[in-house]
Amino acid sequence: MVDFVLNGKPVSAQVDNDTPLLWVLRDELEMTGTKYGCGMGLCGACTAHVEGQAVRSCQTPISTVAGKHVTTIEQMHDDKVGAAVQHAWQKLDVVQCGYCQSGQIMQATALLKTNPKPSDKDIDDAMAGNICRCATYVRIRAAIHEAAKTLA
Ligand code: FES
Ligand code: FES
Repeated sequence: MVDFVLNGKPVSAQVDNDTPLLWVLRDELEMTGTKYGCGMGLCGACTAHVEGQAVRSCQTPISTVAGKHVTTIEQMHDDKVGAAVQHAWQKLDVVQCGYCQSGQIMQATALLKTNPKPSDKDIDDAMAGNICRCATYVRIRAAIHEAAKTLA
């Protein structure tokens, strides 16, 4: 059994230690905002935060989050930076099909927490591992700048 804190609440998962965090979030705890894309750490759809750091939850064994704070897209509206990112996403109408976007928002939020005024290159570097099949990259970059402006 692994105990951790999910979106501010203590939770337990009765799974094998090497079970990916993504599986626990979606299948055990019914938090389906975090998406399964590739399952190989290659697309970023499964991005969540562990202790505020963006991680690929498909590649994060549940045992490594024992006792830690895990945050998912379901909690981002309660986070000052996450809320600003979501608002910018809506304002600039970033989303197309939407499948990749929870991961994009989690990655963008983690970026702005460490770099409140990122350059285009900073954004491109930080977001490079988050794939969007609908190619919303230009709007994502603009929305990150917009969120940075509102948080300044
Ligand atoms: S599902 Fe985890 S990186 Fe693609
Ligand atoms: S909005 Fe469709 S994959 Fe990104």
